Amino acid sequence: MCGIIGYLGKQEAEPIILEGLKRLEYRGYDSSGLSVGDKNKITMLKSVGPIENLEKLIATNALVGNWGIGHTRWATHGAVTQENAHPHTDCQKNIFLVHNGIIENYQQLKEQLIKEGHRFVSETDTEVIVHLIEKFFQGNLEKAVIQALKLIKGTYALVVISRDDPEKIVVAKKSSPVLIGLNGNEYIIASDPSAIVSYTKKIIYLDDDDVAVVTKNGIQFTNLNYEILTKKTQTLEWNLNEAQKGGYPHFMLKEIMEQPQSIKNSLAGRVIEKDGIVKLGGLENIKARLQEIKRLIIVACGSSYFAGLVGEYLLEEYAGIPTKVEYASEFRYRQPVLDKETAVLFISQSGETADTLAALREVKRRGVLTLGIVNVVGSSISRETDAGIYNHIGPEIGVATTKAFTSQLVILVLITLFFGRERQMSFSLGQAFCQELYSLPALAEKILAQRENIENLAQKYKKYHNFLYLGRKYNYPLALEGALKLKEIAYLHAEGYSAGEMKHGPIALIDKNFPTVGIVFQDSVYKKTISNLEEIKTRQGPILALATEGDEEIKKITHDVIYLPKIKEPLMPILAIIPLQLLAYYLGVSLGYDVDKPRNLAKSVTVE
Ligand code: M6R
Repeated sequence: MCGIIGYLGKQEAEPIILEGLKRLEYRGYDSSGLSVGDKNKITMLKSVGPIENLEKLIATNALVGNWGIGHTRWATHGAVTQENAHPHTDCQKNIFLVHNGIIENYQQLKEQLIKEGHRFVSETDTEVIVHLIEKFFQGNLEKAVIQALKLIKGTYALVVISRDDPEKIVVAKKSSPVLIGLNGNEYIIASDPSAIVSYTKKIIYLDDDDVAVVTKNGIQFTNLNYEILTKKTQTLEWNLNEAQKGGYPHFMLKEIMEQPQSIKNSLAGRVIEKDGIVKLGGLENIKARLQEIKRLIIVACGSSYFAGLVGEYLLEEYAGIPTKVEYASEFRYRQPVLDKETAVLFISQSGETADTLAALREVKRRGVLTLGIVNVVGSSISRETDAGIYNHIGPEIGVATTKAFTSQLVILVLITLFFGRERQMSFSLGQAFCQELYSLPALAEKILAQRENIENLAQKYKKYHNFLYLGRKYNYPLALEGALKLKEIAYLHAEGYSAGEMKHGPIALIDKNFPTVGIVFQDSVYKKTISNLEEIKTRQGPILALATEGDEEIKKITHDVIYLPKIKEPLMPILAIIPLQLLAYYLGVSLGYDVDKPRNLAKSVTVE
C-alpha cells in the first residue's frame, strides 16, 4: 500500500527521499512523487508508473534543498494519473502534503471548500486535507494541520511542508503507521521501518492522534490539544542486508531460501528440550491469567489466517483448548461472544493490517485479553496487544509472504507447547516436540536443495490455467496457502480445498486440463487422502503430489512427486509449504511476471 518518506537535515533531500521511495516499492504502488524545499521555495515532481519515470523527471529538473517529502501511491480514490499522485498542494502552492489512509468525509468537506473558492485538481480524498490546512494557515503549519485534523473523519499518516513556514515538517497519525528515524540532527520520516534502515536504527513511532513538528532543532510531539508528549526512542534490530536482495534475483526467492535461518531465529532461546517446555518471554508476565483461559479465538487476514487454521488443529489436539479462527474483516463487524475466560490471538506479519487492528481495538474495548504474533517490532498491533510473541525474522519485503508464514507456524507450535505443558501434554511428548522443532532448519535446507527439480516441474505445469490444491487435517490450511501463493504470484486460478470435501462439488471441474496439487503424507489421514486422489486420477486429472520420502506407492496414482522428509504430523506444514512457495515462484517467473511486485497487491493492507 502507499508509502511515505520525508527528510530534514544537512544533506540534499532528493537522493535520500528517492532511495526511501525505492525501498518502499515492494509495498505496491502505481505512481510516485516528491517535493523538495530550499529556503522559501518548494519544487514538486510527480509521475505515473515505476519510480524510474520519476527519476527521469528528476534528471531534467534540478531538485535542490535539504528538506522534503515523497510518496508512492496505490490508487484508492481516483484513477492512476499524475494529478492524483502525491504530494498534493493547495491553491497557492504553498503547502505540500503526502497521505496514507482514507478520508471518509472528503466529499462533504470538498463541496464546502469548493463553495469557499478552493480549486481542486485531483479526484483524491487526500486533496481536501491540503485545502483545509490552507484555509487555516496563518504562518504556523502545525496549528493549521491540527485545525484541519479536527474536521477530518478517517485514517491518516500525513506529512506536510510549507513554503511559508520553511525548514519544518509536520507529521500526524491516525490508524496508519508512520515513524521518525533519528540520526544526529537529521530526521527521516517513513511509513515503514525497512525504508530507513540504511540510514538509522533509532526510531520513534507515532501513536494515534500524535502530531510531530520536525525542525533542525529537534522534534516536538503534541496531541491534538497541543499538550506536549514524551516519546520513547526504539532501536531497530534489522540490518541493511536483510532489506536487500543479497544476490538473489527477487526478494521472494531470497526469503524462501532464508527459511532455515528464520525458523532458527523464531526458535532461538525459546525451547528447553531437557524439560520439554518452551519459554515465551512475552507471555511470562501474564502466565497466571493464561491458566484461566478456557477458549481461544485467532483473528487474522490472508496467509496469517491460514497459519491460524493450523494453530486451531494444534491447540485443540495438543493443548486441549477449544479454538476458533476468524477473518478479521468479518470478526470486526460481528457480535462475537466474548468472556473473561476467552483470549483473542491476533496474527499479523506487518502488525498494521487495518482489519486486524480494528478487530483488536474492538476486543480491547470489551476488556478481553489480547495476544499477538507479530513480526514488525513496534508496529501498532504489537504495541496494542496485552502480550505477544515476535517472529524475530527481520523484514519481509516480498509481497507474498513466505518466511513470515513458516515463522507464524513455528510460533503457534511454541504457544501450543506453552499451553499444553501447563495442561494435558506429557513431559515425553513435550520433549519429542522440542527435538523435532530443532530438526526443522536442517530439513528445510534439504527441501530447498530440490529447487531445480521444482523449477523443472514449473516449466511442465505452466501450460495449465487452473489448479486444485488438496490436503486434509493439518495440510488443509496448507492447500489454501499454496493456492493463494499461486494466485498472487503467477496469476493462475487456484482453489485450495479440503481433500475430503472435494467430492461435494469441485470434482466436477476435474479433467485432463485441470491439475491437482495433492498434499499426501504418511500421516493419520494418508489412506483417506489417497482415496480422494484416486477419484481425481479416475477422471484423468494430472496430479502433482507432495509425499513422504520413501513412499513408492504414491507413484501409482500421481504423475509427479516432490518428496519431503518425515516429521511429526503437526509440524509438517512448516516444511511442506516450502515446495509450494517455490512452485508458485518459478511458475510466476517462467510466465514472465515480476514476482516482487505482483499486480494489484500491497504488502501491508492498511485500508479497509
Ligand atoms: O501483515 P499481515 O500478516 O497482517 O497481512 C495479512 C495479509 O494481508 C497477508 O498475509 C497477505 O495475504 C499476503 N499477501 C499473503 O502472501
